[in-house]
Amino acid sequence: MDKISVTLGERSYPIIIANGLLHDPTSFWPLSRGDKAMVVTSDCLASLYLGILYELLTELGVIVDQCILPDGEQYKSLAMLDKIFTTLLQKNHNRDTTIIALGGGVIGDIAGFAAASYQRGVRLIQVPTTLLSQVDSSIGGKTAINHPLGKNMIGAIYQPNSVVIDINCLTTLPRREFSSGLAEVIKYGIVFDANLFAWLELNIDALRALEQHTLAWCIRRCCELKAEIIASDECEKGQRVLLNFGHTYGHAIETNMGYGNWLHGEAVAAGMMIAVQTSCSLGYLTNTDAERVRMLLLRAGLPIQGPTEMSLEDYLPYIIRDKKVIAGQLRLILPLTLGSAEVRTYVANELPNFT
Ligand code: GLY
Repeated sequence: MDKISVTLGERSYPIIIANGLLHDPTSFWPLSRGDKAMVVTSDCLASLYLGILYELLTELGVIVDQCILPDGEQYKSLAMLDKIFTTLLQKNHNRDTTIIALGGGVIGDIAGFAAASYQRGVRLIQVPTTLLSQVDSSIGGKTAINHPLGKNMIGAIYQPNSVVIDINCLTTLPRREFSSGLAEVIKYGIVFDANLFAWLELNIDALRALEQHTLAWCIRRCCELKAEIIASDECEKGQRVLLNFGHTYGHAIETNMGYGNWLHGEAVAAGMMIAVQTSCSLGYLTNTDAERVRMLLLRAGLPIQGPTEMSLEDYLPYIIRDKKVIAGQLRLILPLTLGSAEVRTYVANELPNFT
């Protein structure tokens, strides 16, 4: 078992990574006899893993309730958040309850926001079941729901009490979802770690074949990078912003195309490629490195351009509303070399042409 700590003083928490954690009662420490918990999950995950988790928790003596949401980004909504609150109230959950988010990024984000706001904050255990949520979204406390006018527009930074990563869950993950997670893995390589990028070029096929040691190494490396960044910049005043590489364009694609039609990682992959091309045209990234990014995304089964039906004008309203905008200044994250990136600020009518 690998254990990585997110060091945040009294709010520090462990990320534990292994095969079979959903069968291991020690995974859910500090839950114990008499505690109450609410598992928030989705239809698909409920049929796969809810029974196993329910059995494990009841064996521990935990009183478990459940709230099952439909699958899909379109359900990361105010209506579904209300469903979680109503279930918590109907089942008489108090401030000492624990919300367990069993699922991918959508479940982690909405259940996390419920934990942040229910009775002004209750305990939260993230149990990410997709590659994307295991390497990125379950760590660092970003929680949110979507608004029809913008992705993740309503939310809070609220750290979990632990993150329990059972690598076995990836065996049931659809291929398209696995590729979507690879976009966030590749992102770490481009903006933080040139060695990881080169390692991915060698190991992408083994990852896609779910080769166990390769997968475990990759998840651990991404979690280490994320834990370091969160420990040094929880509130995104500095280098955490680089984790949004590709996301300004990616969120525009997801929102414009209708939540759920482009998976998050697919939209981020296209967004990263737009940023890479912008960086090349401004003379930062070399064409050779841009080609390496393009090839790796292709080999990961990801798109390398945005939807053909979206023009520059279609991106702009979302870019202007982006959460990184400060005092009217748009902030784009541009890779300078493989393994390093910087934030560049622009006003809306001076955005470098990216289509
Ligand atoms: N997923 C980006 C972040 O946690 O900051």
